[in-house]
Amino acid sequence: MNEQNVVICQDLNADLQGLLASLDYDKLFILTDTNTLRECYPRVKDVPALQGAPVITVEANDLHKNIESLASIWAQLSNGGATRHSLLVNLGGGMVTDMGGFAGASFKRGIRTVNIPTTLMASVDAAVGGKTGINFNGLKNEIGAFYPPLRVFIDCEFLRTLDRDNILSGYAEMIKHGLISSMEVYTPVMLYDIDTMNYGYLNRLVAQSVAVKEDIVAQDPKEKGIRKALNFGHTVGHAYESLSFRKGRPLLHGHAVAAGIVSELYLSHKHCDFPMEKLSQVVYYIKEYYPPFAFDCEDYETLYELMRHDKKNEGDAINFTLLGQIGDVRLNQQLKKEEILASLDFYRESFGV
Ligand code: GLY
Repeated sequence: MNEQNVVICQDLNADLQGLLASLDYDKLFILTDTNTLRECYPRVKDVPALQGAPVITVEANDLHKNIESLASIWAQLSNGGATRHSLLVNLGGGMVTDMGGFAGASFKRGIRTVNIPTTLMASVDAAVGGKTGINFNGLKNEIGAFYPPLRVFIDCEFLRTLDRDNILSGYAEMIKHGLISSMEVYTPVMLYDIDTMNYGYLNRLVAQSVAVKEDIVAQDPKEKGIRKALNFGHTVGHAYESLSFRKGRPLLHGHAVAAGIVSELYLSHKHCDFPMEKLSQVVYYIKEYYPPFAFDCEDYETLYELMRHDKKNEGDAINFTLLGQIGDVRLNQQLKKEEILASLDFYRESFGV
């Protein structure tokens, strides 16, 4: 498998042309969704090496990250004459980089892929680290592979096309990266004012955030150990996300993760002595920017069951990643049901819902 290599671009077109000119391949294909075809493809279409490259376009939205869209990508690669020596450039958010990554992993047992993430969520998380896949049988990312792209080109100019909710969604993963790494990464993330949106400064924060993920993935690409640090906030967060879909008020992934971070920092405080003043700081930040997610105690059993069925668990126990301090990650923490439910109370009390 290829070594992952993330580039924070000053000039995306020059960086992309430089890479493509240096590679030996027979055909190149570009994957977009209907949104990124309109909003993002025009920014790269003049790159000399992309001239004449077929553009494969799938419907936008995670609902289309499915076997039908994947089959259509395979068919267009096959009918377009792709071989084992072809290249697939994935231009889009996490839906495109996940599904394009898996198309690359599976077509003729693997063709090289290049990711150009166009959302904050994809830039700091989905496009980096080699997790690829599709949703199947009603389950998110049920089918997939670890298949690192040859290169990831991050250009924060694309973030100008995003609305506030999508910025917030990706930013939750940056809060997580700060918490699991160091004060050096955490502090500027907590000081950033999302409402004034300084894109140049955000670019620097993205670079730091992505470096946290790259470093962890390099140590543990297949999530046998330390990569589980990246699951911080996601055990409760995924349960909130699933509940929100059941209630017909779907949360964006990162909004659910932000709520999950609040609950899991509370668990970290109770179980691992995570300092109260840092807990309060993060809760204050998340309350300032993220909309509250309303649920009541009648939802607790459902949330608990959703956590029990989380695919990150091993056996019957719910496996939490918690923190003893900023950067002090405690893996495979198992908690009593009452403690877990108390973290749901904590979220509701903190947000007044
Ligand atoms: N999104 C968490 C990971 O890539 O491991």
